[in-house]
Amino acid sequence: MQHDVIIVGSGAAGLTAALALAEKLKVLVLAKGELTGGSTAWAQGGIAAVLDSGDTFENHIRDTMVAGAGLNRQESVEFVIERAPHAIDRLIELGVPFNTENKQLHLTREGGHSHRRIVHVNDATGWAVQSALIKAAQDHPNITLQPHRACIDLITGRHEERYSGSGRVWGVYALDEITGQVEAYTARATILASGGAGRVYQFSTAPRGATGDGIAMAWRAGARVSNMEMMQFHPTCLYNLEVKNFLITEAVRGEGGHLINPKSGRRFMADYDERLELAPRDVVARAIDAEIKRDGLDFVHLDISHMPAEFVREHFPNIYEKLMGLGIDMTRQPIPVVPAQHYTCGGIVIDLDGRTDLPGLYAAGECTESGLHGANRLASNSLLECFVFGDAAAADILARWESFDAPPRVRAWDASRVTDSDEEVVIKQNWTEIRRFMWNYVGIVRTTKRLERAKHRIQMMTDEIDEYYAHFRVSTDLIELRNLLQCAELIVRSALARHESRGLHYTLDYPQMLKVARDTVLVP
Ligand code: FAD
Ligand code: SIN
Repeated sequence: MQHDVIIVGSGAAGLTAALALAEKLKVLVLAKGELTGGSTAWAQGGIAAVLDSGDTFENHIRDTMVAGAGLNRQESVEFVIERAPHAIDRLIELGVPFNTENKQLHLTREGGHSHRRIVHVNDATGWAVQSALIKAAQDHPNITLQPHRACIDLITGRHEERYSGSGRVWGVYALDEITGQVEAYTARATILASGGAGRVYQFSTAPRGATGDGIAMAWRAGARVSNMEMMQFHPTCLYNLEVKNFLITEAVRGEGGHLINPKSGRRFMADYDERLELAPRDVVARAIDAEIKRDGLDFVHLDISHMPAEFVREHFPNIYEKLMGLGIDMTRQPIPVVPAQHYTCGGIVIDLDGRTDLPGLYAAGECTESGLHGANRLASNSLLECFVFGDAAAADILARWESFDAPPRVRAWDASRVTDSDEEVVIKQNWTEIRRFMWNYVGIVRTTKRLERAKHRIQMMTDEIDEYYAHFRVSTDLIELRNLLQCAELIVRSALARHESRGLHYTLDYPQMLKVARDTVLVP
């Protein structure tokens, strides 16, 4: 099946690119599972943009670089932040009903921001954004949305009927999750907008499908990835034995929530940072981790019950309702919270036009390393990155369109040598094992010894999974397992290569930060 442009992913990055391209080109959007299956729909806090008269681009740029511990690329930071107000205007045009106060956008506050600058739709911004984007895409005659397509690998010169060693990308092989058939989808340009790799960790706020598929696909096809050791842990994920990955938005701290050690009853952030609960996430997550480890706790408390009950219900209606369903009244009681993996700062290396190393391949959003986040993402900068780079990739494709060749004939997917799996348990076992050792050995505080242990486990599992992949028919679980293991390997390799502690990478063996900030760039 041939289209002008193929986009892998229907989140904020993918649909932003699709809408911009569809003015002139026919676009196919492929998504694993439902169209709402990515992180975009789950975003809570909001989107950062300089909109307040007392705020400036320079402030937002400085806050982003401080959070990123100097690893950010200044030109990327400026590029994104200066385009933020325009991105918000466009979302308003698409019908996103941002909260207002006295006819102005209501701006909330989150950790690391020196000003109020987060636009939001209550505490469920992502759902409003995702719904508006899907509606606009569904209404557009040039956009075809195909959910339930799990992309397996990029189609490159190697897959042309007349073999070519060029790394030119011509589209993707994708599994139809309903029929079980694998199809080749070709196009003149391909955009990966496939989200992060959060599910490589046992505890994560990210949705089930955040398995780093795009990162692994790009790597296998020959693109560089960078800064994969920079995995962000959100300080406040609900601690509940049944509900495993419910985020309690940072805006709860932004609007006055306190972190309390349940054993001593002390508000503890003053022991760690003068910015208290509004220090950047890496600092707050490490502080909670230290309290939990020192006192043998299961969780700490996040308490906003000192604020008026009406204020809490009005600002956090979805969280309030969810917690009430679990028997926690946040207007009267503290919320038990723990840190959990939240955001993949590293990813496929792109330039300011969303171009990867491979001709014909673009990428945008959480699967990329654009230079914006550096060693730690500032809260609410990531949806923004999706809008800006989704647009940038589309603009570059439109500008170069006439120079792109039509795709050649490519080989069909070969399933002649595989059979149905007779041991699905292998997949489940390996999924669980990867996620557990990544949590225990490659978590918030690292050591070289633990990283080496993880590396050893990955080496042992790689042969087993490769063999399984070679012999059995692909399923979404198997595709994801292969990609999870690949991402785990990239994360551990990057972490071992960084001999310092910077931002999200904190290791007891190299506790100091080096004078010069360098990206960890892995070359396939
Ligand atoms: P996603 O929205 O994750 O979409 C990925 C898409 O790729 C999906 O459609 C998925 O199905 C598809 N896909 C993946 N693999 C394949 C494959 N193999 N084949 C086909 N399709 C595939 N950021 C903020 O800025 N503000 C917030 O308030 C905020 N809150 C958050 C709250 C939570 C709980 C989480 C988890 C994240 C939050 N983030 C927030 C981060 C932000 O939501 C994400 O970084 C952002 O939405 C990523 O968008 P994306 O378009 O890159 O990918
Ligand atoms: C949150 O609402 O705390 C998440 C914001 C983000 O991840 O940017």
